Amino acid sequence: MRFDVVTLFPDLLQVWAGVGVTGRALNRGLASLQLWNPRDYTEDVHRTVDDRPYGGGPGMVMKVAPLRAALEAARAAASGSRVAYLSPQGRVLDQAAVGEIAAAPGWILIAGRYEGIDERLIERYVDEEWSIGDYVLSGGELAAMVVMDAVIRLLPGALGHEDSARQDSHVDGLLDCPHYTRPEVVEDLGVPPELLSGDHAAIRRWRLQQSLGRTWLRRPDLLERRGLSDAERALLDE
Ligand code: ADE
Repeated sequence: MRFDVVTLFPDLLQVWAGVGVTGRALNRGLASLQLWNPRDYTEDVHRTVDDRPYGGGPGMVMKVAPLRAALEAARAAASGSRVAYLSPQGRVLDQAAVGEIAAAPGWILIAGRYEGIDERLIERYVDEEWSIGDYVLSGGELAAMVVMDAVIRLLPGALGHEDSARQDSHVDGLLDCPHYTRPEVVEDLGVPPELLSGDHAAIRRWRLQQSLGRTWLRRPDLLERRGLSDAERALLDE
């Protein structure tokens, strides 16, 4: 999976690209990341990347020319990639959307700043517009990192344990079950006996019950859409 990010703040992404599961995946070549700064494509002495909005109003808008030049450079380097713009006006992503994104060979992500980018750039160059939630960030960089993180951990070999991505919250439409590790007693709190039983069917049943219970209590909207599979019914009936 190839990622190219067009951003005025490449340093922000450099730090993220060096740490944790995603950093390791990038280091091992499971995914690649290239950064393109529109400021490097300006032609004036002030290296201007923004301008006042037509029609007036507060804030500034990212200018077409430097952004388009950075995007063209990214497109030349990443020929099979599609282009996505991160914005609160986009399709709100969920785990299913992340799965679809992970199936493409590569993405060029445009991280906007200020009030956003000139609409004509979106019209002409952007294939998809994505939001990471119904709230407004000061720029698209955090959103780009959120998307790349969620995608990279799905790539085969990215996680230490191959099952962990499959068992995550949301992957099967449910919230995750609680997790415990040693010691067996913390303050006055123990570990659910099912997890200590060594009975694998009992452990699977307990985890499913917890996932279902949590989803029912915290996110009934997810459960309504999903229902129960035959295998889950059978396990719960055991
Ligand atoms: N840029 C600013 N807010 C955003 C959001 N909620 N999602 C994606 N990109 C954004």
